[in-house]
Amino acid sequence: MLTILVGGFYGDEGKGKVASYLALKDSPKLALRTGSVNAGHTVTYMGKIWKLRIVPSSFVNPKVELGLAPGALTPLDILFKELKETESENRFCLDPHVGIITEEEIREEKSDEHLMRTVGSTGQGVGHAESKRVLRKLKLAKDYEELKKYLASIPDKVINYIERGYDILVEGTQGHYLSLYHGEYPYVTSRNTTASGILSEVGVGPKYVDEIIIVFKSYVTRVGEGPLEGELSEESAQKLGLVEYATVTGRKRRVAPFNIALAKEAIKINSATQVAITRLDTLFKAAYKVRDYSKLPPEAKKWVEDLEAQLKVPITLLGTGEDALDMIDLRKEKLGRG
Ligand code: IMP
Ligand code: MG
Repeated sequence: MLTILVGGFYGDEGKGKVASYLALKDSPKLALRTGSVNAGHTVTYMGKIWKLRIVPSSFVNPKVELGLAPGALTPLDILFKELKETESENRFCLDPHVGIITEEEIREEKSDEHLMRTVGSTGQGVGHAESKRVLRKLKLAKDYEELKKYLASIPDKVINYIERGYDILVEGTQGHYLSLYHGEYPYVTSRNTTASGILSEVGVGPKYVDEIIIVFKSYVTRVGEGPLEGELSEESAQKLGLVEYATVTGRKRRVAPFNIALAKEAIKINSATQVAITRLDTLFKAAYKVRDYSKLPPEAKKWVEDLEAQLKVPITLLGTGEDALDMIDLRKEKLGRG
């Protein structure tokens, strides 16, 4: 079974948390990361916190093989640092076509006024590297001696594992409204962040996909420039306990209430089959670390049920705390499996 995890708003919905939960719970054979190091995914497990920018969040389960999809991009230093931190070097592979970001692209991006000022880029060199890839000037993983021992064709591996009946989890990055094609251009990232874009970065055909889990946080955040409907003042956000800082840049995230219209549109375009909601405990304090639906406070249940009635897609996962396992899992009840 091939599952794609995709963000439904502006990134930072908690894909790292959901991916780490699914890795521990379902133990897929292979977990893949797409995208690049502009996206920070946070994993908390057994009292430890990892802020990952390229290694798949599924590393928390040592049985899971990890890979980088051909459409991904990474600088070598961040990759090696994270492989060490996550002790996953011996179960990691990357596709020969993964793009390699160098100091040059980082420098170019940091001095690119349009990207840094108007768009509010994270300045990680991703856009500049991606543009060099398009111009066929970028070096890829296959060009680097130090990566030779990790190289493996990801599409071949994926198809081979699917044919043998194994599960694969693809961890997308950012969110629907940051998509280069479907987001709020020019206030977007340098790639298509939707399910179809994530799949094209992996490189297998759409018929291989079984599930698309779209992740929403219980409120909306955005870093960088661009529209944010219903944006709360810093004071209101503070009062409601909705203050967050970006994983990669440390910038304060802008905040707005959950946006049903945006969620519906994202569900439609991503053809989501399941919805995961993270940080339910931020809206309903009494939901903190609850792992059993029946133990949720009634107002939290009502919020989830009203939302599901509007979204018309089963809400199968509810995040209730920072730990990977702080999750209410309704897949058995709602889908008859999981
Ligand atoms: P870039 O992709 O670093 O050039 O950033 C372009 C826009 O996307 C900026 O508004 C960033 O703040 C935003 N962005 C890129 N990656 C992420 C992410 O992982 N989470 C949230 N926002 C992101
Ligand atoms: Mg993030």
